[in-house]
Amino acid sequence: MRTMRPLFTLLLFTLLCTCVSAQKSLMVTNPRVEYHSNPKGLDVEHPRFSWELTGEGRNREQSAYQLEVMLGGKAIWNSGKVHSRSTNQIEYAGPPLESSREYEWTVVTWDERNQPSTKGGGTFTTGLLRFSDWKGLFISHYTGYDKTDKYDELYLPPARYLRKEFTAAKTIRRAVAYTTALGLYELRLNGKKVGEEMFLPGWTDYDKRLYYQTFDVTDLISTGENAVGVILADGWYAGYLGYALLTRQDKVREFYGVNPAFMGQIHIEYTDGTTEIVASDVSWRGNTGPISEADILMGETYDARKEHSGWDQPGFDAESWKKPRRYTYPPGQLQSYPGDYVMPREMLTPVEMTEPEKGTYIYNLGKNIAGIIELKVDVPAGTEIKIRYGELLRDEDGGLMTENLRKARATDTYIAKGGGTEVWRPRFTYHGFQFVELTGLPAKPAMDAVTGIALSSIDTDAGKFSSSNPMNNQLFKNIKTTQAANFFEVPTDCPQRDERLGWTGDAHIFARSATYISDVAAFFTKWLVDLDDSQHWYGAYPNFAPMPYSRAEQYSPAWMDAGVITPYTIYQVYGDTRALETAWGGMEKFMAFQEDASTGYLRPGGGQNWGDWLTTGTKTSNDFIASAFYGYDARLMAEMAGALGKKDREAYYRSVFQGVKSAFGKKYIKQDGSTTEGTQTALALGLYFGLYPEELAPKGAALLAKSVAENGDKFSTGFLGTKHVMLVLSEYGYHDLAYRVFQQTDYPSWGFSVANGSTSIWERWNSYTKDENSNEKVNAAMNSFSHYALGSVAEWMYRYGLGIETKGAGFREIVLKPAISKEINEMTGSYRSINGLISSSWKRQGRKVTVDVTIPVNTTATVFLPGRTEKIGSGTYSFEVKE
Ligand code: BGC
Repeated sequence: MRTMRPLFTLLLFTLLCTCVSAQKSLMVTNPRVEYHSNPKGLDVEHPRFSWELTGEGRNREQSAYQLEVMLGGKAIWNSGKVHSRSTNQIEYAGPPLESSREYEWTVVTWDERNQPSTKGGGTFTTGLLRFSDWKGLFISHYTGYDKTDKYDELYLPPARYLRKEFTAAKTIRRAVAYTTALGLYELRLNGKKVGEEMFLPGWTDYDKRLYYQTFDVTDLISTGENAVGVILADGWYAGYLGYALLTRQDKVREFYGVNPAFMGQIHIEYTDGTTEIVASDVSWRGNTGPISEADILMGETYDARKEHSGWDQPGFDAESWKKPRRYTYPPGQLQSYPGDYVMPREMLTPVEMTEPEKGTYIYNLGKNIAGIIELKVDVPAGTEIKIRYGELLRDEDGGLMTENLRKARATDTYIAKGGGTEVWRPRFTYHGFQFVELTGLPAKPAMDAVTGIALSSIDTDAGKFSSSNPMNNQLFKNIKTTQAANFFEVPTDCPQRDERLGWTGDAHIFARSATYISDVAAFFTKWLVDLDDSQHWYGAYPNFAPMPYSRAEQYSPAWMDAGVITPYTIYQVYGDTRALETAWGGMEKFMAFQEDASTGYLRPGGGQNWGDWLTTGTKTSNDFIASAFYGYDARLMAEMAGALGKKDREAYYRSVFQGVKSAFGKKYIKQDGSTTEGTQTALALGLYFGLYPEELAPKGAALLAKSVAENGDKFSTGFLGTKHVMLVLSEYGYHDLAYRVFQQTDYPSWGFSVANGSTSIWERWNSYTKDENSNEKVNAAMNSFSHYALGSVAEWMYRYGLGIETKGAGFREIVLKPAISKEINEMTGSYRSINGLISSSWKRQGRKVTVDVTIPVNTTATVFLPGRTEKIGSGTYSFEVKE
């Protein structure tokens, strides 16, 4: 017995230790700087740090944190122990950062019992911060200037190839490339593409701003001979853009410039501490090559017989290549790219191949994406393969439907070199499609001749959703697919036709939905700058951003308001006050523009007045919409002013909001709670924006519910009304009705598109139907099958269906208020917030409903259950409710 005792004690002690320590120390996860993990080339003065915390048990909290930043192993800044629960938006406050350096950072936090967490951290590198750091010149290969009428015949110049050989004399420690272009470029080193990113350097108003990229190329360069190659194409800078050709704008291409040009430099740091810079200059050599056409909208043509084998490797004979032309620096700012790059996000194998006509092969990729294909063929030299893209097949003959592409030619051509298997992907174009048509092949191609490559700026992995209704689960997939297809450098309206523009109305209507599905913080950080850059001198935000067209009247109420609503959304979701600071000046100017246009706080319609776009019901007047949005803007401005500590402005915008509210109430809202407009949209906007007199609001909501119910549990709304009808129904407790609308399958509804086989969200409620007789009314030319605007119901699915909402900004305090209804049995989902994973699900079994929730460390939540409210701290909880 006596010998047993120490062993027993030891065992007990060990057990206790493991439990206590596992329970106790928090773990720092997902450490990021400026919304990126280990970002490269930062050029912001005070980068912001963030992390998440995980840890066992409940009610876990951060009581303090300490950050340290090191350069070359030496600490340059230590925050000291900061007693705060903040885990994001924490600014670097050390000495000025230096150009082209590698910094390391660490963070340690303390929990509720003052126990330290595991250490987290990472690295970040800086870009070129001073003008004198830039050694590269803008260079291009001159291909002549085309004077033909570009309205009547397409003008598609070839891509340009630039190359340079260099010697790295010593042992390399680190090599970094800083590169950009006016146009689009692909950077290559020693025969390989640098990075997976595409559509570089991104789209901005190039007269105001051009972004550069920073690539760590240490692994692509070796001591001895090296070669750098660049392929340049027109892109947004010089190519066809939007609907300019269709609507005969003052220009149809070359909106920012005529000749694409490249600029960049590679910094090679040797182990002996010396540095060498290889910069773009006139000693490089240029030529054209196999890419004879490269245009975002029109497509790419590649003649493999014209390849310069080995051109991007050392030892290539470039004797016949020309000296490049030099171009001047563009007028705007040169900055490091702040967003998320377009890159391949998903590979799709075809599900079917058909031959509707002899020699015409159509591949079905199974879903409607934005992207390109990889072609794999073994055909004789000179075989010209034409590749066309479509979202749908024609009902009558199974051929490709292309009317809705309008002036986007969306055709790629590959000319084979022969002699074996050839694999090719276009680089400078993309299409919106589910079907791919190949013609020109000598024989039936194999099933694997086509692989779909979905391109996007984002991953759609922040949110999970499922319910007991399979239709709604498909709907959720469709929204994700469509968001991915349109979060393409800027938030576009659609990826297929001659548009693909950053339509402001679509973007703000969908923004909150977008945040639940994907981490869009960096994506919107970038687009909010585009929006600010595109603001008209008189204060209105335009119809789309970037805004390349110069015609007057490029704004519309409910579209221009994206300038206020989108920054607000990013602040609300990520607690990002810097986004507000950046946007503030422009927003104030916008509000002054609205005030100037108003009489007695009522802002009349103006500009293009898109209204409740594509509504299926009676139109809501432009004046009503303009005033409603003006009031809403004022309300958000007051809240944002508060967040920025601008007390006077907060008071001012509160008074503007009150002014609008009272004038609006008098003019548009009747004593029975109805509006002068008599539309669902008017009721929904008036209520959601808080413009109803308090005593009339419940009456208004009841009338909205009545209107929807009498319409057969269907809305009669367009882009603006739809999202707000759902939110208002639930806000005022009409959950059963909201669920009936949500699960509706008759036209117009989300279920209608799912029942008709959609894999994406359509522009119109009736874009397509299997019923031959009812599809005729649709305008075939303006009928996109990939338009996220009507997918804005995702916001309702999260905020009400699952009930995941933030109280105040940034999900530190959470509201879990699932809309439990007898109309549906189960909802399950989660959202990866800036503080970590929040999950919520509820399930009915007989008369019992189980609600399961999890909230991350360092957050609290109020859980609203039928008949009771619970306050919880971090952890997992299960509740039972009797119905
Ligand atoms: C776009 C929209 C946009 C609208 C303006 C359309 O052509 O595709 O989504 O908001 O124009 O009304």
